[in-house]
Amino acid sequence: MGEQLSGMKRTHMCGELTLEDVGKSVIVMGWVQRRRDLGGLIFLELRDRTGLIQIVCSEQLSKEAFDKAQHVRNEYVLAAAGEVVRRSDENINPNLETGNIEIYVSEFKILSKAETPPFMVEDRNNVSEAIRLKYRYLDLRRPSMQKILMTRYRITRIVRDFLDKNGFIDIETPLLIKSTPEGARDYLVPSRVQPGKFFALPQSPQIFKQLLMISGFDRYYQIAKCLRDEDLRADRQPEFTQIDMEMSFVEEDDVIALNEKMIARIFKEILDIDLEVPFKRISWQEAMNRFGSDKPDMRFGMELKDLSSIFADSDFKVFKDAVQNGGSVRGINVKGAASMPRRQLDELVEYVKTYKAKGLVWIQMLDDGPRSQISKFLKDDEMTQVVNVMEAEKGDLILIVADKNNMVVYDALGHLRLEMGKRYNLIDESKYEFLWVVDFPLLEYSEEEKRFVAMHHPFTAPKDEDIEMLDKDPGRVRAKAYDIVLNGLEIGGGSIRIHDTELQKKMFKVLGFTDEDAEARFGFLLNAFKYGAPPHGGIAYGLDRLTMILTGTDNIRDVIAFPKTQNACDLMSDSPSEVSKEQLDELHIKVNL
Ligand code: AMO
Repeated sequence: MGEQLSGMKRTHMCGELTLEDVGKSVIVMGWVQRRRDLGGLIFLELRDRTGLIQIVCSEQLSKEAFDKAQHVRNEYVLAAAGEVVRRSDENINPNLETGNIEIYVSEFKILSKAETPPFMVEDRNNVSEAIRLKYRYLDLRRPSMQKILMTRYRITRIVRDFLDKNGFIDIETPLLIKSTPEGARDYLVPSRVQPGKFFALPQSPQIFKQLLMISGFDRYYQIAKCLRDEDLRADRQPEFTQIDMEMSFVEEDDVIALNEKMIARIFKEILDIDLEVPFKRISWQEAMNRFGSDKPDMRFGMELKDLSSIFADSDFKVFKDAVQNGGSVRGINVKGAASMPRRQLDELVEYVKTYKAKGLVWIQMLDDGPRSQISKFLKDDEMTQVVNVMEAEKGDLILIVADKNNMVVYDALGHLRLEMGKRYNLIDESKYEFLWVVDFPLLEYSEEEKRFVAMHHPFTAPKDEDIEMLDKDPGRVRAKAYDIVLNGLEIGGGSIRIHDTELQKKMFKVLGFTDEDAEARFGFLLNAFKYGAPPHGGIAYGLDRLTMILTGTDNIRDVIAFPKTQNACDLMSDSPSEVSKEQLDELHIKVNL
C-alpha cells in the first residue's frame, strides 16, 4: 500500500526550482521519470506538469530514504523533502531546465506504486497511436501532451478575456435539443419519459445563439461542445469544441474586424507573432478559380489557370465536350517537375480519380518540346496557347483536368495542387497565412437530393442585392457568409443571419421544405422572429483546429484530452458499448442487427 501524505505539504513544483532556491528546504511531489543506482547513491528524476528535478538519496543523508529508493521504479508517485543543492560543474545536465541543481533527500514517501507501464512516458517514443489512446492517462503525462493541453487552456483564457472586455457574455445552451440542420448527421438521444421520441445532441448552438439575440443579450459567446456524426478525417472529431459567438446590430465587416483583433491577440500571446491585420479577403469564386478550394493554402502559388477558351472548338473531344456542357478545362504548372517518371504520372491520374475526375492530362516540358499522352490530339497552336497561359518553361510539368462539372475540376486540381506543393516542399511551414473567404453562394445544388441545400446553414442571410434572384435563379444568390482560413485549414465560419420571418420562410421554401415541415422543425424560431429580432450575425471557430495550428500538430486527436478514433470509438473506456436489456426496455428500444 502507498503511504499517506499525513500532513506533508508540497512547497514547490519540480520544474520551477532554480539556482535561487539553493539552500532551501523544499518538498516536491511527482512521478519517477528515471532511476539510476550508483551503489551508494541513487538518483531519481521526479516529474510533475512543470518539469523534472533530480533528487538524490544516499545512506549518509537518510538511511530510511535510501532503503526506500532501492525499491522505487518508473512512474512511482513520491513526495520528497530535502535541501536544494547546486550541482558541481561536471554534474550539470544541460538537457534539463533544472540541470544545475538537485535535491538532497532527507525524507521521502512512496505515495503510490506503479506497474511497469506499457510504454515509457517520454516524448521520443514510437508507440502506436492505438496504444497511446488505450492508456491515454499515461500518454497525457508526456511533456508534449501536457504542453498542448496547457496551450489550449491559455487560448480559451485569452478568448474569454478578450470577449469579456468587448461586452460578450458566456451563456450556456442546452445539450438535449431538437434536431438542427448543420449539414451533418445528428447524434440522437432517446427520451425515456416520452417513448418513441428523441432529442438530438447539438451540432452547434446556432439556433439558440440566435434566440439569445432576440432575447436582447446583444453579445453572446460560449466555448461549446458540438457533436456531429460524420465521416472522420485528420481534422475532424465527432465531438469537438467551438468558440462560438453572436452579435446584434452588426454587418459582416463588424464581425470580421472584431475577430481579427481576437485572432491577433491570440497569436501575439501564444506565439509572440504580430499578425498583420486586416487579413486578406477573397470571394469564394476567386478562391475556387485560383486555388480550386474554398480553404486555400496561400503559403505557395501554383495557381489554377483556365484553359477553357482554347478548347471551346477543339478536335479533342474530351476537352471540347467539357467546355460545351458548361464545365471547364483548367491546369496547374508544377515547376521543375517535367522529369517525373511515367509510373508516377500514372499514379497522379489515379489520384485525381479519387476526386471524381475522369482523367488527368500531363504535359512534360522537355528539351525537345512539350510531350503529353494527348500530343497527337492537340493542334500545335493549342499546345502553344496552353504553354503560354500556363507560363510553362522547359523543365515544368503541366497537369490538366477537364469536366462538365466545374466543381470536379476545382476539387481535383485543388487537391493535386496541395499534393504537389507538399511533394516539392513549396510550403513554408513557418508562415501563418490568414484569409477570409467571403461571398459564398447561399445554396448549392445537391445531385443526390435533387434540390438546393444551404451551403452554410438555412439561417444565413442572402446579399441584399441578390435577394430578388432567390425565386428565379437561386443558384446565383450569394450569402453574407465568411470563413476564416489559416494555412489551408478552415478554422472558423459564420454569417449574418436572416432576421425576418418572411425571408426565413422563403429560404425554407427554396430549400424544399413545405410550410408544414418548416413549421414542425423551426416553428419556434419563426415565431420568435415575429416579436422583434435585431439584425445579428456571428461566427464559430473550431477550437481544436486552432489549437492544432498553434501547437504545430496535424493530428486533431493530439489537442483533445480524450479523443475518439477514426471509427468514432474511445479505446480507453471501450465505448460505444452494448447496454443492458433493462436499459433498452426502459427506452422502448429494440436493437435490430
Ligand atoms: P461550421 O459548421 O462551419 O459553423 O463550424 C464552425 C467551425 O467548427 C469547426 N468544425 C470542426 N472541427 C472539428 N471536427 C469537426 N467535425 C468539425 N466540424 C466543424 C471548423 C468550422 O469552421 N453554427 C455555425 C457557425 C456560425 O454560423 O456562427 C457552425 O457551426 O473549424
